Amino acid sequence: IQTDIPSLRDEVPFTLGAAIGRAQTLGEHGDLLLKHFSGVTPGNELKWDATEPREGEFTFAEGDNLVDYAVQHGLTFRGHTLAWHSQTPDWVFKDGDRDLTSSPEDRALLLKRLENHVKTLVGRYKGKIAVWDVVNEVVDENQPDGLRRSKWFQITGLDFIRTAFRVAHETDPAAKLFINDYNTEFPRKREALYALVKKLKAEGVPIDGVGHQLHLNIEQPPAAEVEATIERFATLHVDQQITELDVSVYPDFVSTYDEVPAEVLAEQGYRYKELFDVFRRHKAQISSVTVWGLADDATWLSTFPITRLNAPLLFDDELQAKPAYWGVVDPA
Ligand code: XIL
Repeated sequence: IQTDIPSLRDEVPFTLGAAIGRAQTLGEHGDLLLKHFSGVTPGNELKWDATEPREGEFTFAEGDNLVDYAVQHGLTFRGHTLAWHSQTPDWVFKDGDRDLTSSPEDRALLLKRLENHVKTLVGRYKGKIAVWDVVNEVVDENQPDGLRRSKWFQITGLDFIRTAFRVAHETDPAAKLFINDYNTEFPRKREALYALVKKLKAEGVPIDGVGHQLHLNIEQPPAAEVEATIERFATLHVDQQITELDVSVYPDFVSTYDEVPAEVLAEQGYRYKELFDVFRRHKAQISSVTVWGLADDATWLSTFPITRLNAPLLFDDELQAKPAYWGVVDPA
């Protein structure tokens, strides 16, 4: 890795995190991670399918490995995620072969499973995981009430959110508890999430913060929309974190490059700069910014939503600093 360039974590006034897996803790990847970052989020290792594949059978080898690594190196750990509609095994929403319904018995069964899951994960890492994404992607701005019709919601209404936050808080009162979502920089989604957080907080649900995923692309949306979102949530007096930042080199889902042109990478660098200008201006609201991957050799965007070369991160696939990296370095 390049040793003669500034450590990014010294350039920003908040925790700088990266989404990682075991591979990012090893060899040169580990060197790059420790040189530049002060926080980590496991990309997949703490999701339900990875931690409780069968009811009551917990698997923690990968999670423990990353948490131990973070503790050993003094990295802040974001736990991701306790309740989500994706990467959740089918058994969670079934009783044998039968799909759970919204009957009182089925609701109680699902909430019991959630309670057990949350208690087990938050309890295992108490004092080691500083921040949890308690619920992920629960908003759907195209529904009249702004709530995603996930199985969680169809069976329990908002009670899965209330239960997850309550149990997480009871289990580790010191952990910061977040509600996390994507597209929060778009006005309709922003308002739907805002309304939900406001309502839940008024009920006393222990929400400490709002996570903005910020999966952006080279053109959209403008940084001014991101800023508007941060300012909007500041009025709710919640902590805010940028949880999954990346900047796709494509403005749409059809184009593909064999090699990303240098001018596109330069443009991406300006995009990162614009965004970090916003984050720095709002350092009183933003306690952490996490990029969704350490380097371009491992990004979910090379397979999602279609398989194509992408390069959305700060370091290239040979772990060298990109213009995007220089966009983050403090201009002062
Ligand atoms: C992604 C992971 O990066 C991929 O490896 C996995 O195949 C799918 O999930 N929003 C989230 C993250 O909250 O958990 C997702 O992570 C990316 C979108």
